[in-house]
Amino acid sequence: NFAGIDIRGEIERLRKEKNAIILAHYYQKPELQDIADFVGDSLDLSRKAAATEADVIAFCGVRFMAETAKILSPDKIVVLPDMDAGCSLEDSCPPEQFAAFRAKHPDHIALTYINCSTEVKALSDIIVTSSSAEKILSQLPADQKIIFGPDRNLGGYLVRKTGREMLLWPGVCIVHEAFSESELLKLKAANPGAPIVAHPECPPIILDHADYIGSTRGILDYAIAMPGDTLIVATEPHIIHQMEKALPNKRFIGAPGADGNCNCNICPYMALNTMEKLYVALRDLSPRIEIEEGLRLQAKKSLDAMLAMAS
Ligand code: 13P
Ligand code: SF4
Repeated sequence: NFAGIDIRGEIERLRKEKNAIILAHYYQKPELQDIADFVGDSLDLSRKAAATEADVIAFCGVRFMAETAKILSPDKIVVLPDMDAGCSLEDSCPPEQFAAFRAKHPDHIALTYINCSTEVKALSDIIVTSSSAEKILSQLPADQKIIFGPDRNLGGYLVRKTGREMLLWPGVCIVHEAFSESELLKLKAANPGAPIVAHPECPPIILDHADYIGSTRGILDYAIAMPGDTLIVATEPHIIHQMEKALPNKRFIGAPGADGNCNCNICPYMALNTMEKLYVALRDLSPRIEIEEGLRLQAKKSLDAMLAMAS
């Protein structure tokens, strides 16, 4: 029962008292984005977690993001407001099955999307985010054979864009799979001239209609620079909060699912984090991310490779 508690004020007080930094992803509720010290995409959040001098990282995002922070900053206490904040891409790639897939293709390296478990990172050679994947791929020798997992949509997009063949793991993000092409086309017809931006986790049928494809930060940068006054956004709709803050006089419309609105595209995992849970996490320094040291060191290799190649 939080009656009578000034949650916002308490978060501010605890942040100072515990020398904590609050990191938030663009898919978090507006109030969490607004109270964060830093809001970013997966790559920028990883860089921030690796460089911070705070004693505590309160991570408003999903578990693989908080685990990444702990892998890169093992001496910090990393708390996640809700430990159940998972990710459907992570769930679609169980480590034993991924290990078996790798074993079947011993001449391939594993280039792996950061949306996966620490165990899968430990089984991988290089991690990528949606904002760094193309740059990293372009640095690999042309004859290098590659396994790409767990997101078949991002993988397929990279194959089409770069012309590089890769063996794709069949995982998907349930949020980005939920956009409807026919509803999107209706929305486009109702807003003539409005560009469509999309995250590469969308299936090809949606990406084919996009004027710009990129990571959450890339999408935000596009929105800020666009000349027109209306934009259709095919990714998790909470990112629109930052667009409306930056450009209050423009219109940002979340791309629809089959029901004609963008509510089915809210990430159910990201939505588990709340201001109340962030307050409790800072107060109790729990729930805390803990990773066995051998596993952490193994996973860190593939993350370090990403940070070096993405810089
Ligand atoms: P970004 O790296 O683009 O922020 O994507 C993270 C994510 O989970 C997208 O669903
Ligand atoms: Fe995972 Fe999709 Fe949610 Fe991103 S939007 S955290 S990929 S389930």
